[in-house]
Amino acid sequence: MLTPITFHDGAIELIDQTRLPQEVVTLTIRDYRELADAIREMRIRGAPAIGIAAAYGVVLGIQALTDGAVLDEHFKKVIEELAGTRPTARNLFWALERMTQVFRENRDTGLEFLKERLLDEAKRIHEEDIEANKRIGSHGAKLIPDGATILTHCNAGALATGGYGTALGIVRAAWEVGKLKKVLVDETRPRLQGARLTAWELKQDGIPFELITDSMAGSFMACGEVDAVVVGADRIARNGDTANKIGTYPLAVLAHHHQVPFYVAAPTSTVDPTIKNGSQIPIEERDPSEVTQIRNVRIAPEGVNVRNPAFDVTPAGLITAIITERSVLEPPYTEAIENVLHG
Ligand code: MRU
Repeated sequence: MLTPITFHDGAIELIDQTRLPQEVVTLTIRDYRELADAIREMRIRGAPAIGIAAAYGVVLGIQALTDGAVLDEHFKKVIEELAGTRPTARNLFWALERMTQVFRENRDTGLEFLKERLLDEAKRIHEEDIEANKRIGSHGAKLIPDGATILTHCNAGALATGGYGTALGIVRAAWEVGKLKKVLVDETRPRLQGARLTAWELKQDGIPFELITDSMAGSFMACGEVDAVVVGADRIARNGDTANKIGTYPLAVLAHHHQVPFYVAAPTSTVDPTIKNGSQIPIEERDPSEVTQIRNVRIAPEGVNVRNPAFDVTPAGLITAIITERSVLEPPYTEAIENVLHG
């Protein structure tokens, strides 16, 4: 199964997603600061994959340490460096919290044992994510009608997770049971995760799809060509408001207008229990060059003012269901989320 990241012999190996689809290049990373840069530069991206990478990053950070006297101070520095990479992805902070918990429980057991426990936990986070995606896929496929065209945005596939994908997990599961006709893939400006990554993944699996520009989605819905919109999530608030790749919110508005079901697919690790609603979700602003250039080719005049929020928030009221590994959540979400987390 395609996974964007592995850990062997003390090093992380990851597919450099900035080079896809032209080249499949594997980077070998041994330093946690290099891993933090790879996350910032989106060589690995997608909330669950960022969480898994950060967990392995903690292993790299502690692996190099030989002096137990500076353990606490060093661990804090590693966590801060990794936490400072992508502010919207909830799974990043969730994974760092899990690693911190294992650190606390094992910090006095000796450095070598601690290193082993941290690596075990990172591997567990990775394996659990793949398992969660399979379950999301099978729950979600039940909601997809026969002969369906699914529209998706960005890349919530194997590349964005431990493997299999969330939104693309549902696409894969619907394809496996023979319900899927095709996928409409939004190109997803500015970073083109749809055109570059989702198209690459679907092509590898032989799943039929058509690539469209973001501005075409409404027209296809108006013509009755879309049976469901399925997207991933970067962070879900307690009331169901969901941050995902910029351009997701307008799709939800269009889907509502055209009475097309709008599904969010995400593991429960994407739910932020500390956040009441979407207005509290931190939205990452990225470099203006992502808007003024396409893959290093300038398309706007020099010196223009640019806005570049990487995510938007879809209000819970526009979401038909949130498909998690545990169950399919339906409105009212505050209650459904409370039950899925603590029920
Ligand atoms: O900026 P990115 O490429 O990291 O954004 C990715 C998304 O918005 C995904 O939809 C989300 O992280 C879910 S991935 C399973």
